[in-house]
Amino acid sequence: MIRLDRWLVLLALGSRSQVQPLIRAGRVRVNGSVCRDPGQSFDECAVLALDGEPLDGRLTRHVMLHKPAGVLTAARDPKQPTVMALLPPCLGTLGCMPVGRLDKDTTGLLLLTTDGELAHRLLSPARHVEKVYFAETDGPVTQAHADAFARGLDLGEFTALPARLDPLGNAARVTVREGKFHQVKRMFEAVGLTVTRLHRERFGPLSLPEDLAPGQWRELTRTELSALRTAAGFAEE
Ligand code: URA
Repeated sequence: MIRLDRWLVLLALGSRSQVQPLIRAGRVRVNGSVCRDPGQSFDECAVLALDGEPLDGRLTRHVMLHKPAGVLTAARDPKQPTVMALLPPCLGTLGCMPVGRLDKDTTGLLLLTTDGELAHRLLSPARHVEKVYFAETDGPVTQAHADAFARGLDLGEFTALPARLDPLGNAARVTVREGKFHQVKRMFEAVGLTVTRLHRERFGPLSLPEDLAPGQWRELTRTELSALRTAAGFAEE
């Protein structure tokens, strides 16, 4: 159950003092009936409308974003643009958070969810959820590099788990099962190559759709969410 005024605040319709007059003015309907009491509580499945227009009242949201270069993966930053600026404000007020990080210059698939437990499990080192990156490098990637990735690389404070590297000239496709800070770039550095461009193509079972342009986002489909939950180790409902 949730109070109507709090619900509208979470949906980014304004502050509590801004949404209460809307409710008192009779502009908000719940399950088809006008509710003028900001303090009345409703089931989160209730159907909302404002001025006769349906409102998406979902409090749990899961989205994918094609992260462009130049934005930070962070919920907020005092100085620099973050991925949250690319999403509707309600995803921020609902507490939708990035699942892990992509570096500022890295592009590609970024998942965001309001479900902290799902995010936590997807990022858990024990879960070994695969991420696939396309990396461009400052020199040719060879089978010797692939062999070194497959053995597991010593990155100083830790040894990277064995990873798959498919050489593609001055580029490669890399599959890793962990996500430490600058992991892919550091793995290439460890074999004497510098990554000049990095793009995430896949996170667990989800691939970046070809029709999702940089900066665009969309909700996960039911099937995608179910696959993700399975990857996170949740039993099928
Ligand atoms: N590895 C990196 O080095 N950077 C990223 O953004 C993601 C993985």
